[in-house]
Amino acid sequence: MTSPLVIAIDGPAAAGKGTIAKRLAAHYGLAYLDTGLLYRAIGRLAHERGLDLGDGAAVGAVARELDPASLDDAALRGREAGELASRVAVHRQVRDALTSFQRAFAVMPGGAVLDGRDIGTVICPDAQVKIFVTASPEVRARRRTDELLAKGRAVDYGTILAEVRERDARDAGRAAAPLKAAPDARLLDTSEMDIEAAFRAACGIVDEAPYRDED
Ligand code: DC
Repeated sequence: MTSPLVIAIDGPAAAGKGTIAKRLAAHYGLAYLDTGLLYRAIGRLAHERGLDLGDGAAVGAVARELDPASLDDAALRGREAGELASRVAVHRQVRDALTSFQRAFAVMPGGAVLDGRDIGTVICPDAQVKIFVTASPEVRARRRTDELLAKGRAVDYGTILAEVRERDARDAGRAAAPLKAAPDARLLDTSEMDIEAAFRAACGIVDEAPYRDED
């Protein structure tokens, strides 16, 4: 019998993990969950309600109410939502409220790809494939800057680099499920790769993984 394939993709902001995860899901015919969207939606809701984002109990209540079907809003993908997400994601109450939804998604019969910060370490520690996608802060900031410039936004590289470093420090430095590679994750450093090469490397990791049950 073969168990459904679960692929856990973690890594810092702007390393390419979302694009890689989405393409892996399409390639292997798996469902895809961008878990960052859950935190982004909570950050935005809490902000709109004027809550103190440092208040774990209040923000945790927002997280428990979240309708995961309501994540289709383009504004959730912007810089501001990312910043708000990183701030609310430090709270244990927020993370706990999202755990069962993410785990239920991961065990769907056809298999799944989830991307985030703690998928391989906390949400799906038994995932058959774990990939930690990273790139240097300078490369990530350059990519993010170019993306925003291409959309006609006035941004400067130095500001974006500072944001990337600040987000890394908050995501990796928090006590609750910090950003880190699971001990059994394969590291994929995309600093010197374009997205095509990064995707091919990720497919190589999946294809080499001993993920099929023999019994
Ligand atoms: O992947 P992203 O950029 O959309 O994530 C936004 C923020 O949400 C990120 O800085 C930290 C938080 N996050 C998290 O703590 N755990 C996850 N599984 C996903 C995102």
